[in-house]
Amino acid sequence: MKITEALQAEHLVFHNLFDHVEKTAPGLKTLAELKAVTALLESVLESHSRTEDDLFIGPLEHCFEQIGQRETFHQEHEDIDQTLALIRKATQLRKARDLLLALIVSCRQHFDKEERIVFPMAERVLNDKTLAELGRTWLHQRKDVVP
Ligand SMILES: [Fe+2]
Ligand SMILES: [Fe+2]
Repeated sequence: MKITEALQAEHLVFHNLFDHVEKTAPGLKTLAELKAVTALLESVLESHSRTEDDLFIGPLEHCFEQIGQRETFHQEHEDIDQTLALIRKATQLRKARDLLLALIVSCRQHFDKEERIVFPMAERVLNDKTLAELGRTWLHQRKDVVP
């Protein structure tokens, strides 16, 4: 499987997760519940973003530079991490919920940009063999995290 297909498939799961969180977050009654939902989201987002940082930034660096996105791609992952950290530290349910819903909006924009710009660019620039090799690396990384 090509790395772009693997990441795209992960995105589909995230879109469902985001829909669910947006639907259920307003009904959560305690800060602890909201933090538990966020922790789940954080654990899956973390491995997804790390894969993109590890496998994509290197081979595509010169392309990101050409389209003026070299810093942005990594920066958006950092911004997502920072918002997650703010939710972890939040002491008020309302504040934490606002941050979580804002995080989902940012994630959707980030994922959309990857689907429209980054993945097609990777398919144009990298040959099929490289895309498949990166896909195998992705599979090994995912197997490593399975208990
Ligand atoms: Fe990403
Ligand atoms: Fe992504």
